[in-house]
Amino acid sequence: MAAPTPKLAFVMVGLPARGKTFIARKIARYLSWLGHRTEVYNVGSYRRARLGRHRHEFFDPRNEAGQSARRDVALEALDDMLGFLRTGGDIAIYDATNNTPERRALVRARCAAEGVDVVFVESICDDPVIIESNIRATKARSPDYEGVPEEEAVRDFRQRIAHYASEYQRVAEDEGPFVKIIDVGRKMELYRIEGYLLARVVHFLVNLHVRPRRVWLTRHGESSFNVSGRIGGDAALSEAGRAYASHLASVVRERVGEGVVVWTSTLRRTIETAEALGKPYRAWRALDEIDAGICDGMTYAEIAEQMPNEFERRAVDKFGYRYPRGESYQDVIQRLEPVIFELEREKAPLLIIGHQGVLRALYAYMMDRPPSECPFVSIPLHTILELEPTAYGCEERRIELSPTPVPPPPPSKPSSPPIERMP
Ligand code: F6P
Repeated sequence: MAAPTPKLAFVMVGLPARGKTFIARKIARYLSWLGHRTEVYNVGSYRRARLGRHRHEFFDPRNEAGQSARRDVALEALDDMLGFLRTGGDIAIYDATNNTPERRALVRARCAAEGVDVVFVESICDDPVIIESNIRATKARSPDYEGVPEEEAVRDFRQRIAHYASEYQRVAEDEGPFVKIIDVGRKMELYRIEGYLLARVVHFLVNLHVRPRRVWLTRHGESSFNVSGRIGGDAALSEAGRAYASHLASVVRERVGEGVVVWTSTLRRTIETAEALGKPYRAWRALDEIDAGICDGMTYAEIAEQMPNEFERRAVDKFGYRYPRGESYQDVIQRLEPVIFELEREKAPLLIIGHQGVLRALYAYMMDRPPSECPFVSIPLHTILELEPTAYGCEERRIELSPTPVPPPPPSKPSSPPIERMP
């Protein structure tokens, strides 16, 4: 019998305004996308829900009532987190300051009692410019300061930080495994980070940055296979597809300019689309379309007629279904992992010219959608999806460049989730 995989908790550590929530959510999104059941437990949200909003005096370590109320909500969040791990969750992230060795020892002891491994993720930042911008971008706008003028909120928040700083002690080696992210990834320290999963998470964290930029996702221009309703293959663009390529090139020049970085797959239709831009591009094998195996080159109607069992199995579980000698959406996600690392690392505006299946998987990652939903995301031809990562999420805008008729969708699960369209 296979040994059960140990449950894992990432326990955030650090002063307020050090990007802990940003990091916690990024780790959760990445791990969920890879298929691990992952949740973030944010103690600040528990505090606001249970105790309402407070000014800085509440966080003063000399305020005994405040201390004990904060401890209670921290333990409530911890209990909920352990409950999640006990009832099917794989990985949890405990998002709080955890700024004293005593608090961390308590968290570690409770996790150990339930067989949950703990890794501390400490964000250390002494750069006043980064701290100030974080306070203004997120904290002064937090529900804690709703209706409070910005300058007053910022002043109060700085005092709150000072309270935490008065008793803050960094994680030491005798507390167990840790990752320290110093000055938003300029430097990292690792201690007892072992195994494949933790190595991946660290690699992922190394690539994170907070610089604002846009990512554009678009399918290639229409191909002759799109015209005939055939899947896969390596067809060239149709006339309408070539028109889209030049339209796309002019829109990209106009809106993004020369600084744009362009990625394609290794298939002809994405490369022909990129060529119209007249600038270098990177062709990734990992961005090739989902491999339809023995169904490559067929229409959906032909598959339904000639391989009804395969057609039916895919209709029942489109996410998990693997084409014979081909791939499933799950497989596509696994092979896209290096693309995600590079996507996180890239600071320039990025244009990815891809395919319906792979772009659905990338979209699910960017928009933090459950991976099982990705086969149903609508990614029409001749449309740009403009995605703009924000502090804790991602904004979406769709730009339709020309209303080329798209072949009707294949007869599959009808319950596609509605996709919100930004104006
Ligand atoms: O039809 C275009 C296409 O990119 C095919 O090559 C691919 O098999 C398909 O879309 C993926 O979409 P679905 O998973 O809905 O079949």
